[in-house]
Amino acid sequence: MKEDQQTDEQTVKLTQDPITLHDKKFTPFISQHKIQSKVRELADKISFDHNNTNPVFIIVLKGAFMFASDLLKNASIPCETEFVRIKSYDGMQTTGEVKEIVGLQRSAKDRHVVIVEDIVDTGTTMNHFINSLNKLHTPRTVQIASLFVKPQLIQYDLQIDYCGFEIGNDFIVGYGLDYNELGRNLPRVYKLKQ
Ligand code: IMP
Ligand code: MG
Repeated sequence: MKEDQQTDEQTVKLTQDPITLHDKKFTPFISQHKIQSKVRELADKISFDHNNTNPVFIIVLKGAFMFASDLLKNASIPCETEFVRIKSYDGMQTTGEVKEIVGLQRSAKDRHVVIVEDIVDTGTTMNHFINSLNKLHTPRTVQIASLFVKPQLIQYDLQIDYCGFEIGNDFIVGYGLDYNELGRNLPRVYKLKQ
């Protein structure tokens, strides 16, 4: 019996067949069960480290919405949330430049910040965001929680304090991540079929 079938009634109905989003096919990659247990593990670590810090979670939309929701439901600490939008991706290619940042409602000055991101690919987005955050808001500490990291592609010296899964050079969708806006609502993660 497949892991999905053992652990999650809902996913029994899902097949292992590829799915199609726009013009591309994607195959199942990481199950809902694996994602959920990794997210709980990260939430436990963060809760332990930030027991007394009242951190501000800065959630990077749109991709991190599902991860952030599950992460924060599992984090048993007092905390605040802020949402930002940053964009450097177009279709399946990073554009190499950050296109937009829609700002924070409140200052993160002197606060312990945990940035919640779906995936760090080249690191352009995160690097740019951290630089602006440090410059404009002078937080006390800044950490990164990213569900996925592509270590082979990262081009900046970024420390990912809370990393869910290290993956290869694959384009993935689901659990918040999209291919041209499709696939964000999928409860598990798929990768591009080669
Ligand atoms: P970076 O600036 O190259 O690190 O790209 C980061 C952003 O690109 C992420 O926040 C995602 O929104 C998007 N991205 C990078 N890799 C993927 C992927 O495999 N699937 C979907 N979106 C991705
Ligand atoms: Mg993102």
